[in-house]
Order: sequence, then structure tokens, then C-alpha cells
Amino acid sequence: MRFLTLTLALPACAPSPEVQAILDLEGDDVTGGSLYADRCTECHGESGEGGTAGAIDHPHSDASTVRTIFQGNATMPAFGDLLQDQDIADLNAFVQASIYR
Ligand code: HEC
Repeated sequence: MRFLTLTLALPACAPSPEVQAILDLEGDDVTGGSLYADRCTECHGESGEGGTAGAIDHPHSDASTVRTIFQGNATMPAFGDLLQDQDIADLNAFVQASIYR
């Protein structure tokens, strides 16, 4: 029973297999920077200060950042079908290194 409870509790907090596969890659923040300029600046600003959408310059975990980029949210488009896993890993490396503070 205890095992069953743990199993049921997992999906809410554990990354999905798709997100985990991206988390297992090593991101390159330089490549991520050009992807960010192409895909994210309009909505979030050059330095994450906000644009047509809110600021994203406050820290988020790797898992939360990758999940948001992969699946989007209410108004942010999902990039999971538009970008390769490696692109999303690179984007995460860039925002972790240069946007979050
Ligand atoms: C069409 C506009 C749009 C684009 C393009 C976009 N986002 Fe978003 N994003 C949003 C909106 C809207 C939210 C919801 C929160 C907000 O407005 O601050 C959000 C939320 C986020 C969050 C979570 C912020 C938080 O405080 O929870 C992150 C991280 C993020 N975006 C990163 C990115 C990255 C990286 C890209 C480029 C791959 C990107 N976004 C592209 C609109 C966009």
C-alpha cells in the first residue's frame, strides 16, 4: 500500500519522461543564447526583464524551466514540438547562466 501511495504521488512532482530526457543532456549556453534571442526575447525581453509577457529573471529549477519550455503554459507556446531536445537543454543552460539572478 505504501508503494502504491508513493507511485500515485510521483507524477505531480517528478519530471515526465520527455522532460527527464532533456534534463539528462548537457546544455550549451552560447547556443542557447542565440535560440533565446530568436524565440524568447519578444515575450520575455533581452535580459528576462519582460516584454509582451512577464519577467522571467527570478530563478527556477532546471526541471521547472525545461518543463515550461517543453510544454508551455496557458499563454506561452509549447516548444516541445518546435525545437529539438538539445535546443531546450541549451536554452535552459542559457537562462540558468544569464537570465536568472
Ligand atoms: C508568446 C509569448 C511567449 C514566448 C514566445 C515565450 N514565453 Fe515564456 N512565458 C510566457 C507567458 C505568458 C508566461 C507566464 C508567466 C508570465 O507571463 O510571466 C511564460 C512563462 C515562462 C517561464 C516561467 C516564469 C515563471 O515565473 O513561472 C519561463 C521560465 C519561460 N516562460 C521561459 C521562456 C523561454 C526560455 C522562451 C523561449 C524558448 C519563452 N519563455 C517563450 C510567454 C511566452
